[in-house]
Amino acid sequence: MNKIQAYIETHKNRFINELIELLKIPSISADSAYKNDVLKTADAVKISLEKAGCDTVEICQTAGYPIVYGEKIIAENLPTVLVYGHYDVQPPDPINLWDSPPFEPVIKTTPLHPEGAIFARGACDDKGQMYMHVKAMEFMTATNQLPCNVKFMIEGEEEVGSANLATFVKNNQEKLKNDVILISDTGMIAKDVPSITTGLRGLSYVEVEVTGPNRDLHSGLYGGAVANPINVLAKMIASLHDENNHITIPGFYDKVEALSKEERADMAKAPFNLENYKKALDIEAVYGETGYTTNERNSIRPTLDVNGIWGGYTGEGAKTVIASKAYAKISMRLVPHQDWEEITQLFKTHFENSAPKGVTVKVKPHHGGQGYVTPIDSIGYQAASKAYQDTFGKTPIPQRSGGSIPIVALFEQELKSKTILMGFGLDSDAIHSPNEHFGIFNYLKGIETIPLFYNYFTQLSK
Ligand code: BES
Ligand code: MN
Ligand code: MN
Repeated sequence: MNKIQAYIETHKNRFINELIELLKIPSISADSAYKNDVLKTADAVKISLEKAGCDTVEICQTAGYPIVYGEKIIAENLPTVLVYGHYDVQPPDPINLWDSPPFEPVIKTTPLHPEGAIFARGACDDKGQMYMHVKAMEFMTATNQLPCNVKFMIEGEEEVGSANLATFVKNNQEKLKNDVILISDTGMIAKDVPSITTGLRGLSYVEVEVTGPNRDLHSGLYGGAVANPINVLAKMIASLHDENNHITIPGFYDKVEALSKEERADMAKAPFNLENYKKALDIEAVYGETGYTTNERNSIRPTLDVNGIWGGYTGEGAKTVIASKAYAKISMRLVPHQDWEEITQLFKTHFENSAPKGVTVKVKPHHGGQGYVTPIDSIGYQAASKAYQDTFGKTPIPQRSGGSIPIVALFEQELKSKTILMGFGLDSDAIHSPNEHFGIFNYLKGIETIPLFYNYFTQLSK
């Protein structure tokens, strides 16, 4: 047993209990009813960073929720790692689908996690993964083995688009100066198949509103004679994909980066079992763009999905009504070179133009961000690869993810440094879903792997 393994063995119960305490605070950034809890979580993160050995920790106010910033600078000439994470979480609804309350963490075993997993909103995304870094820091400072400078920047608005973090980064370039950015807010291929995320998709999120008659109407008296906004919206949404599940917005694919045959062949080498994939979701068949595999469809190809749709009568029983308005929330996942603002504009123009006479359409852009790809020949990637090699006994597989962390592209633009995405989550962790959890194995493996990254990164930087 090496030093870090021994340290984890001695302190693992405390590591788990501290995370459980953090998970009890419902830091839901999307819902203003939880404002005090979000702020309370920022304070808890601040205290944890102080205890972990940061020399200075501050709560940096923004126009929204604060950013917790901490650092330990040991020498000017040593490299600096900037750790980013988020302390806010997604809303837990639908609440009734949780087996235990989302903010009353419990440890349960599952077939995949015989040693237990912590069930709570934020267990994996991102409190659990963020806290691995705090505990790795504690180990390095408590045992006098911190090999380089560290800066922590933990925000509270990732799940709502990081708008205020973008401003903070632009205004604090000197403070945030670093040699590499390290994030654990993604996943790995499987519990025994480590991977490093080399790409994230961009995002454009919009809300649409279709208005027909000036009031809700009797569906018998008026039905058939006026445009029903819900019928129209359904038709307009359906027409956004063609029979090959290709997106029909003119210009949508113009800048999409096409991968070479070799790159696609490399991707296909990553372990993937379609039968297990379907079984895990209880679906008979996968579905998507013609000509691409499942792993390609959810990583290197752009998508358009309705996230929510509403209007009319949805209460108990029946009400015969033609609603005046219908709404939908739509996300587009984008790939490198697609510009999210340009895509938002293309969507808006197309959607407004595709409306039939008799309704008016409004498109309201929400938030977005650019996609990201990172090379595998950087010092940062090599350091991460060696760290995983030591703790898993396997070379990690580079993998492009379908998810988005829009701020990563902005980090590169403003701070001119690469981000290394060392994620320890699993697809089955159910992030954003009911019964989110994080395996204790994954949590502790993360704490074990992170200090090795610091060591290798410092060595390779010489
Ligand atoms: N941690 C996720 C993103 C993620 C998860 C990337 C797994 C890769 C693998 C992050 O918290 C998230 O949920 N991002 C949002 C975007 C944001 C702007 C709301 C997303 O991807 O939907
Ligand atoms: Mn996250
Ligand atoms: Mn998330």
